[in-house]
Amino acid sequence: MQRLLILGATSPIARSLAMRFATEGASLFLAARDLAEVERLASDITVRTGARAVSGVFDAAEFYFHATFFEKAVAELGGLDGMIVCFGTLGDETAAQVDPEKALAILNQNFTGAVSLITLAARHLEQQKSGFIIAIGSVAGERGRPKNYVYGSAKAALATFLQGLRGRMARAGVHVMTVKLGTVDTRMTWGRESPLTVAPEAAADSIYGAWKRGAEVVFVPWFWQPIMGIIKLIPESIFRRVNI
Ligand SMILES: NC(=O)c1ccc[n+]([C@@H]2O[C@H](COP(=O)([O-])OP(=O)(O)OC[C@H]3O[C@@H](n4cnc5c(N)ncnc54)[C@H](OP(=O)(O)O)[C@@H]3O)[C@@H](O)[C@H]2O)c1
Repeated sequence: MQRLLILGATSPIARSLAMRFATEGASLFLAARDLAEVERLASDITVRTGARAVSGVFDAAEFYFHATFFEKAVAELGGLDGMIVCFGTLGDETAAQVDPEKALAILNQNFTGAVSLITLAARHLEQQKSGFIIAIGSVAGERGRPKNYVYGSAKAALATFLQGLRGRMARAGVHVMTVKLGTVDTRMTWGRESPLTVAPEAAADSIYGAWKRGAEVVFVPWFWQPIMGIIKLIPESIFRRVNI
């Protein structure tokens, strides 16, 4: 039986992942900022699957609270076998590009907050010599774009952090998987129409399948890998002139 901590549990992608793990008998600690919503989600999962699901709150940017929060989650679960990092925000990119405080808030919610919590989980799993970490990154981190380079740089930094961590954790038998996610229909992308958008349930299916087969880095959906491969090849002088 897996004991899992899911951060950013109220994301519809995280909800679907939680259901999949719960259906296989995992015990869950579900956390986000919205207590009422995580409590509702935990009850719903327990009713539908019979799995044990408890809930708690954390804020990615409240670093001083992370160690206490993490210890409480592990104690409530009675140990830890895996952590899924699904929190993140686009923030106000336009404002962040001219306001350092808003830029740093986006970095904290997508990168430094994740570094803090992943480091706590990695230390625990390394000592135990087993377990896994799944972290949701973004194809936005593959190339800096005028439209979203603050958010994109946070996801790029997260991918590099996870790459190094994966190498270190492999020696302890801990699996670290990076998800490079394309556009998914969630509140983050509300109102944006794109033929490349997929449903959160489909994204969760792909993430779950990739984790099961032991993938280290996965593009979700798969077609983002060739798309970003091509986009990365475009010379900067040309890329600057196209409004992608
Ligand atoms: N949707 C997309 O197209 C897309 C594409 C690429 C990558 N992603 C990534 O996928 C992940 C899930 O996003 P989503 O699309 O499902 O968006 P979402 O529905 O807005 O979910 C975001 C989650 O992050 C939590 N969260 C936000 N700020 C937080 C903070 N400061 N501290 C703690 N929790 C916080 C939210 O919960 P509370 O508000 O209750 O705290 C929620 O659970 C994110 O990492 C996002 O960057 C999404």
